[in-house]
Amino acid sequence: MSFPEINLIAALREEHDFIDQAMGSLYHWSLKGREADPGARKLWVEFLLHYVHEFHHQREEEMLFTTLVSKLELRPDNGPIRILREEHEQELELARELAQAEDGDEIAKIAVEIARHVWEHLDKENSVAFAEGNERLVRLGIRSLDDREMTPVEAAARKAVETLIERWSPMDDPDHIRGDGCMPCYAYGESCGGVEKEWWNQWDWERMDNFQG
Ligand SMILES: [Fe+2]
Ligand SMILES: [Fe+2]
Repeated sequence: MSFPEINLIAALREEHDFIDQAMGSLYHWSLKGREADPGARKLWVEFLLHYVHEFHHQREEEMLFTTLVSKLELRPDNGPIRILREEHEQELELARELAQAEDGDEIAKIAVEIARHVWEHLDKENSVAFAEGNERLVRLGIRSLDDREMTPVEAAARKAVETLIERWSPMDDPDHIRGDGCMPCYAYGESCGGVEKEWWNQWDWERMDNFQG
């Protein structure tokens, strides 16, 4: 069974594609651009603060996560939503560290840490929060969610990174393994029971039983 994608989730997914590319470019810059292109650091920080946090995270938290919690009757202080909110704060903290770092090696280390952190976060949202959340909201008859336009500051932060992506073509980090679902998440089985335990209801389990035959 396939479900049409809610407008806000479709927009957030498109932003993920761009942010994913941006992190590949940040990774490339951390290896080769840090000394050749030191001015880019300010643009990376502004992108993380204004585009990723103030625009993207703000809509995820206030427009999507809030709706999921209320409509699916989730516990706001537990499960995937809590982990994703915590990761937004961690990402913000890393952006501030990137802005303040003075030593070149430290700048590179933080940049790589940010890329890995964001990639892991995108994979969780795409495969868990967006996929499972969209299906459940559509089943409840929700076809559309509020969204908003970018502010000029947020748009400028994105535009600057479009140029950086051209200058520092996105690269994969060979030391970072990507994966979908709850299994790769550090919190799974520790501080989060995973989406099946936290979100699934009788309907889901019966469907799984029928599927498995
Ligand atoms: Fe997020
Ligand atoms: Fe996201």
